[in-house]
Amino acid sequence: MADNVSRVDGTRVLADLHALRAIGTYKSGVHKPTFSEPHLRSLEWLVQRLPEAGLAGDIDGIGNVLGASTKPGPKLLAGSHLESQNHAGWLDGPLGVVYALEAARVINPDPKIDGAVEVAAWCDEEGHFGHFLGSRSYVGAVAEADIDSARDRNDGRTMREALASAGLADRPRVQAERGRHIGYLEAHIEQGETLESSGLKIGIVTSIVGIWQYRITFTGEQNHAGTTRMAIRRDAGLALARFCVAIDDRFPASCGPRTVWTTGRITLEPGAPSIIPGAAEMLFQIRDDDPAVIARLEDLLRAMAAEVDKQGRCSVAVERIRTGAPARMDASFQQAIEAASAAFAGGKSLRMPSGAGHDAQILATIMPAGMLFVPSIGGISHHWTENTADADIVTGAEVFVDACRRLLVR
Ligand code: GLV
Ligand code: MN
Ligand code: MN
Repeated sequence: MADNVSRVDGTRVLADLHALRAIGTYKSGVHKPTFSEPHLRSLEWLVQRLPEAGLAGDIDGIGNVLGASTKPGPKLLAGSHLESQNHAGWLDGPLGVVYALEAARVINPDPKIDGAVEVAAWCDEEGHFGHFLGSRSYVGAVAEADIDSARDRNDGRTMREALASAGLADRPRVQAERGRHIGYLEAHIEQGETLESSGLKIGIVTSIVGIWQYRITFTGEQNHAGTTRMAIRRDAGLALARFCVAIDDRFPASCGPRTVWTTGRITLEPGAPSIIPGAAEMLFQIRDDDPAVIARLEDLLRAMAAEVDKQGRCSVAVERIRTGAPARMDASFQQAIEAASAAFAGGKSLRMPSGAGHDAQILATIMPAGMLFVPSIGGISHHWTENTADADIVTGAEVFVDACRRLLVR
């Protein structure tokens, strides 16, 4: 029963996070792309910790780690991910895995609690090979053909090659046993500045955004940068740049209050100072927790592309390459986190949507799910300077473990 007595060992939580930070260190963060040697070593690290929490498990055939308990009673699934974006932060992912491990270490041996926490590290949340491949495999949403076609966005290596060289090619992929878990709880750094700027300690996630991604390709005419008069150029790079600015001008009239959009990568062909680009490509992402808003923006994007096409200088193709449904977090999970925050964080909590994608939105398709956030210093994430104060990490662990207890004993 939640009793305001935390048996969380804050020193152990911090030591575990630092042990993971020491694997694949990059400046003050880490560089652990999916299936890189430091990522695999981090997964092994977790496998070796599982028995301390009364769990048994291994890395499965898609790179997920799942620690299962034989303790009778209800089971709560908890976790996050251990790979990182390239040259990125030390807490995006590992925080949620270490909290889950700590919850299992505190709760599973406790004979007064009927039930157990099971721990997961989902592979490739950061999308080096696809999007949410690990958690989607667990819920049964990844076909063998999806694995056949997945490639590392960094170097083009196929996922089959990566799995084979990691020694995972012949392992089965573990899939959810329907009805086994009362739900899934994930902790994460906020990755924004809402909590810090409001002096709050815990974010209670209400919903997670849907992410839609596009490849937008401009085709013009490659030519000499010195001899081609400005009036007759068909510069695909310029058309792309104008399009980016037009998006920023026109989206605000059609978007929702929290819609965000990003052009994360631009490629010019052939990409040389003395050549007018004949082709240009942008990877463009829209995020919102209302699919109707995203659909409306996609219509606008296509209409804008048609306008550019009609002008005749360059042609434009818009290809949707990713859709992800937004997810609502379960009301009873939100209540459990709120009660735990009242007990262990002085009630300094806020209900808030998540602008980042998380594995919890995939788990939410098959079971009740909840998420809690801890503050990010300066709101920085997906960068190696990402950080959270030690005291906030420990408070978050206490709230997380107490929320797990409340969910198991209700
Ligand atoms: C996950 O890291 C995201 O990009 O939201
Ligand atoms: Mn993450
Ligand atoms: Mn991330």
